[in-house]
Amino acid sequence: MTHFLLVRGKNDAGTVSIAPVREKPRGYGLTLIGISPEWQGQGVGKILVREAEKLITSMGGETVFLKANFAAVGFYESCGYRAENWDSDPRQPNLRLSSVQMKRELLV
Ligand SMILES: CC(C)(COP(=O)(O)OP(=O)(O)OC[C@H]1O[C@@H](n2cnc3c(N)ncnc32)[C@H](O)[C@@H]1OP(=O)(O)O)[C@@H](O)C(=O)NCCC(=O)NCCS
Repeated sequence: MTHFLLVRGKNDAGTVSIAPVREKPRGYGLTLIGISPEWQGQGVGKILVREAEKLITSMGGETVFLKANFAAVGFYESCGYRAENWDSDPRQPNLRLSSVQMKRELLV
């Protein structure tokens, strides 16, 4: 797993991590995305996602997967990600839970 930490001044502004997805050839997962509250809404999240994608491309990755909190889906959509499916509880298949599987093809 590779971790990115974006530091502004003396403060940690945000973080993101990437790791290959074993069952998806040329697929990488984006995890642990978090921006410090004082830096949210200032473009830091998008910078980190784009830097992570550049590294993934340089390592031969073509598809990026992530699991988004419901509240962050709009952010990932603005970064070019699309919802694949909603998590559901197999015991309650009609109940939508609060996270969404999303992906982005880097080569298109
Ligand atoms: C969600 C989060 C990662 C976004 O990072 P950010 O640095 O605040 O976002 P940015 O400033 O880079 O925004 C990039 C774009 O996404 C949009 N955006 C940001 N947060 C959004 C949200 N929650 N819903 C919809 N759109 C959003 C911005 O308007 C901006 O649009 P633009 O490029 O068209 O101007 C960050 O706010 C965060 O860490 N939130 C709390 C923890 C969390 O939810 N983590 C995600 C776990 S899956």
